[in-house]
Amino acid sequence: MRAFEFVNPETEPVAAELAVTTPTAVGESTPEEAEAPGFAGIIGRHRRMQAVFDVISRVAGTNATVLITGESGTGKELVAQAIHTRSRRRLQRLVPVHCGAIPEDLLESEMFGHERGAFTGAICSRIGRFRLADGGTIFLDEIGDMSPKLQVKLLRVLENGMFEPVGGVTTQCVDVRIIAATNRNLEEAVADRRFREDLYYRLRVVPVEMPTLRERREDIPLLVEWFLGHLHTVKGLQRFEITDDALGVLSAYHWPGNVRELKNLLEQLVVLGDADRVIRPESLPPQLRGGGRVSATGGWTTPPWDFDQQGIDFYREMASIEDRIIARALHISRGNKKEAARLLHLNRTTLLEKLKRKREAAGMVTQGEPNWAALTPLAVTPTSETSEDFRLPS
Ligand SMILES: Nc1ncnc2c1ncn2[C@@H]1O[C@H](COP(=O)(O)OP(=O)(O)OP(=O)(O)O)[C@@H](O)[C@H]1O
Ligand SMILES: [Mg+2]
Repeated sequence: MRAFEFVNPETEPVAAELAVTTPTAVGESTPEEAEAPGFAGIIGRHRRMQAVFDVISRVAGTNATVLITGESGTGKELVAQAIHTRSRRRLQRLVPVHCGAIPEDLLESEMFGHERGAFTGAICSRIGRFRLADGGTIFLDEIGDMSPKLQVKLLRVLENGMFEPVGGVTTQCVDVRIIAATNRNLEEAVADRRFREDLYYRLRVVPVEMPTLRERREDIPLLVEWFLGHLHTVKGLQRFEITDDALGVLSAYHWPGNVRELKNLLEQLVVLGDADRVIRPESLPPQLRGGGRVSATGGWTTPPWDFDQQGIDFYREMASIEDRIIARALHISRGNKKEAARLLHLNRTTLLEKLKRKREAAGMVTQGEPNWAALTPLAVTPTSETSEDFRLPS
């Protein structure tokens, strides 16, 4: 067991003693972490990851608020755990709040607790997660989904540690270190007035930006080796090897689900794998093998199309390539059209015009939006900033 524990107030008695093993000193690794090719159990050697590790080491010993951003599956939660376990607060709890998963009206009570009779069904009082995290760390995940009302309340806790439970009159005060995470583009949410600017700056005292897996392809062989070893030693599954060709396919794929997708795929391959315990290109799902190869910088090294004696429809193919490039830019910019235009060296108005024309064309043919997600191999992952021009089919 590790020196921290996520607790769930639904299932954990509040007064329960937290089981804690002999802690390491602040900033020290556990023996298991020390062996891992990375930092605090986060695997990676790419310079972007080294920069993340550097920030974790510097910030862990302080009480500074940290805002972790990055696509889904890039390891934001691992970073929050690493900061907590290497801080002086590691003997107290690390309490998560999934701001996106809890309905808005329940979230306030979840975070700050409520008094008996505060609302229908509140038959007894209940303490919230801020109180539960007193002396420790609270991890506010998916912070971009928080309602304006709660944003105000959170700002106050950030400023002076004070809040009132729902239906309560007495002010409570806690000593909690706040780590927040989001895969949304918060700057755009601020510009659109969906997220308070003052709260944004108060949260991002120390920003940590997680690179996507395709931005650190050099780490893929390392991660594959680590996960194959982990599946064997920790999960008791068979030890699998992987051929260089299969590793090449994994290294070229664009990984919209990032490390989580890679980890889950490897587990699936090991569980369902052949008796000879070797992962070959044929073992991999077709969507990983199909389409053009992607270079380390994310650009195509070979065309993603092919044709024979029958030839191709030149204009249709060119339009499809344009669609893929635009989809890729919108994906990298997480739906931010201004940023996508910058990436493509286009005027914003030119990009908007193109998107409008494509929408109209798609409307004529399919009565809907262009199916950006179908543009493999550059499939796009939905984000909360996904604009109407970038809407994905359900
Ligand atoms: N660098 C890494 N080394 C080892 N495992 C990793 C790494 N990054 C992510 N993982 C694993 O991938 C999975 C997803 O990681 P995590 O939950 O931290 O991602 P996340 O960024 O919080 O995603 P989401 O935005 O969807 O919540 C976890 O099982 C985690 O252990
Ligand atoms: Mg997460």
